[in-house]
Amino acid sequence: CGIVGCILKENNRNVAPILFDCISKLEYRGYDSIGLATYDGNIHIKKDKGKIDEVNRKLDLPDMPGSFGIAHVRWATHGDPSKLNAHPQMDEENTIAVVHNGIIENNTKLKADLIAEGHTFKSDTDTEVIPHLIQKFMDEGRDLEHAVRKTIEILEGAYAIAAISSREPDKIVATRKDSPLIVGLGGDGYYLASDSPAILKYAKDIIYPEKGEIVILDRTGVVVHDEFDNPINKEVDTINWTPEMAEKEGYDHFMIKEINEQATSVKNTLTQKDNIQKIIDDLDDISRICFVACGTSYHASLTGKYLLESLAGIPTDVILASEFKYSAKTLDENTLVIFISQSGETADSLKALDVANETSKTLGIVNVAGSSITRRAQYVIQTQAGPEIGVAATKTYVSQLTAVYLFAALMAKDDRLLNDLDKVPDFINEVLEDVESIKAMSQRYNYAKDFFYLGRGYSYPTALEGALKLKEISYIHGEGYAAGELKHGPLALIDEGIPVVVVIPPGDSHKKTMSNLEEVKSRGARVLAFGAADDEELAEKAPEVFKINPEVSEIIAPLVYIVPLQLLSYYITIEKGFDPDKPRNLAKCVTVE
Ligand code: G6P
Repeated sequence: CGIVGCILKENNRNVAPILFDCISKLEYRGYDSIGLATYDGNIHIKKDKGKIDEVNRKLDLPDMPGSFGIAHVRWATHGDPSKLNAHPQMDEENTIAVVHNGIIENNTKLKADLIAEGHTFKSDTDTEVIPHLIQKFMDEGRDLEHAVRKTIEILEGAYAIAAISSREPDKIVATRKDSPLIVGLGGDGYYLASDSPAILKYAKDIIYPEKGEIVILDRTGVVVHDEFDNPINKEVDTINWTPEMAEKEGYDHFMIKEINEQATSVKNTLTQKDNIQKIIDDLDDISRICFVACGTSYHASLTGKYLLESLAGIPTDVILASEFKYSAKTLDENTLVIFISQSGETADSLKALDVANETSKTLGIVNVAGSSITRRAQYVIQTQAGPEIGVAATKTYVSQLTAVYLFAALMAKDDRLLNDLDKVPDFINEVLEDVESIKAMSQRYNYAKDFFYLGRGYSYPTALEGALKLKEISYIHGEGYAAGELKHGPLALIDEGIPVVVVIPPGDSHKKTMSNLEEVKSRGARVLAFGAADDEELAEKAPEVFKINPEVSEIIAPLVYIVPLQLLSYYITIEKGFDPDKPRNLAKCVTVE
């Protein structure tokens, strides 16, 4: 979910157009429903289920009176997407409106207690208990700030909350625990948001509230109180992302724009070399590395294992963040635990980070500055992809890979690899210039119900990531396999005409992958090969070959070969008429476990 809030300095201007603009920028965090609350003597609410455009066509969201308010986009956890379950949620008397990101784990008990006290609830959400509790504590004589404080004393779970009340107008009260929330100091007002792209256009000076702190925004400024109610001076950080970075700039979708930005993302992330060297110099006695991540970041981590084990000889594990706790006992002070995350806010990863911090050294490889992982990890490498809006990760993935390659090459003192990395942006641009071949391929294969992706060694994570891109956005079943593993089961599924993507760069694994290619071909598969332009054997054996510069060696192939696979998924999705930026059921940043 995503939340925003804004109070304008002038009370005769309407805030709804700004709230609508800001919350639209967070649609990538959830698009099951949207809602706004503003105040001009009464609280006004407009909300419904559906994507922002659909709801806006029906309700004209920017057309609401009042100069302060809050807004929400929802990724449903408790309760179906529906108008009643959309946020803002209100108390019984419609005097308090609340938007919430996260999960209230003890909501069943809290709700039962409130019902026993005479409250009636309208929605199936866990959130609705929050305005009811605030109401109860205001009824007992507290002001809004202290009613919120009392409420969070009894909430369990993760939350970022913003509340307004007609009983105490002209202010927004917000707080957080384990869900992201930033405060923006703008020229014309004060802002709250889950994520910086929402408010880039309006505020660049940012405050990061910590767990349990209460933020009060009014027309004169922002006050932050610590958990003991004392005012605190917060550091103000300036974000260097520009508003244009979070716009489509003429592209049809964010995803294709972001795919096209990948050479720049790699180039910019390569500038982190000195910073990474400093971290390595500081880390002594590392005998084991353990990557922890989810989704696409997990695939970048897997590539890290191949690099660190084969180049630096460091035993390396890769663990899904949601499964991490079962391995926690194996950590010690000589283990470096690396958290890769584009958002820096994934709840599963944050939970694991807190555990790892107790015993081991921790390093975050994160794209979003100021995000929770950057604040909690002991060391941080900032990937330089700029804001990524498309839900399917593309430019953040190649940036994560770049950071991991730099880290491994510097650990292994492999100057040749460091040199080769400088050529990657050009190799990526060459692939992008051949987009027409991929478009043609996507027209031939968009009928398929299943795809397989095969790769060996360094190309195995590429196969997994290629398959993930396909299933995420086109809803075609895609399965990535280590090429040599296919014969141990999934070969039974290879049937006449099934497309099998084979990632086969030149290098040590080429010969064996070629044998696996023959195995699927002889069972009727349609092979789509991604290999070197001068690979004659491949040209002879595969009916379709996407040709890549032969200088791209097997070891740097993950940075380049993923690009045509992203393009293939994108164009198949376009052929099928789906929106690649907003795949069903998914969100860019998952702040619940
Ligand atoms: C979500 C996103 C994925 C992403 C994963 C991990 O599921 O939809 O694209 O790979 O979270 O996110 P992170 O921000 O930790 O990299």
